[in-house]
Amino acid sequence: MILETLVTTVDAAGTPNVAPMGVEWADAQIVLKPYRETATFRNLQAGPEAVVNLVDDVLFYVEAALTSPTFPSAPATLVRGVVLEAACSWRELRVRDAETHEPRARFTCDVVHRGFRREFMGYNRARGAVLEATILATRTRLLPIGEIQAEYRRLRVIVDKTAGPREHEAMARLEAFVAAEATALETGR
Ligand SMILES: Cc1cc2nc3c(=O)[nH]c(=O)nc-3n(C[C@H](O)[C@H](O)[C@H](O)COP(=O)(O)O)c2cc1C
Repeated sequence: MILETLVTTVDAAGTPNVAPMGVEWADAQIVLKPYRETATFRNLQAGPEAVVNLVDDVLFYVEAALTSPTFPSAPATLVRGVVLEAACSWRELRVRDAETHEPRARFTCDVVHRGFRREFMGYNRARGAVLEATILATRTRLLPIGEIQAEYRRLRVIVDKTAGPREHEAMARLEAFVAAEATALETGR
């Protein structure tokens, strides 16, 4: 099963990075699949450890996808890395095997520690819709912008039916980003 998570890694200087990633989830091992051009890939090459944060507030996914945020966090227990304060629970990972020749790498990791803070409230339809919209926002330079905008109109209906304030804010931020991208593409920027 692929589970959507926020993966934190640190660079050689110890600066944390947070990225939304769909990871192959299992109890004892988790596979991270960052593309080679991501900071997550570079950090895993520099230091083979990561934290997978299970976060139920989708606004964090949006901010992590659109910006380079510094979310409140605390040091991890066993690995060199950080745990997001927003995490309901987390897994600390150490890379066992790295396949890095393809554009999308595969880091097979052992779960060396796990932590729990609070109940994960689940993804309702609006949260699922925001996650789909977030993935599309990371692909505005790869997919036809008109298709993304059409999909956004469909996802907006679901958000309007089932969102709370955080999901509304998240979707509004995504819509503003896609509108700006559409303008930039039109004007050749
Ligand atoms: C829900 C979701 C899942 C994603 N899964 C992956 C993934 O598995 N691998 C990847 O390279 N990018 C994935 N992305 C895109 C990255 O989050 C995006 O490229 C991000 O800018 C990479 O961040 P980084 O350069 O800070 O590591 C995903 C995005 C979202 C919203």
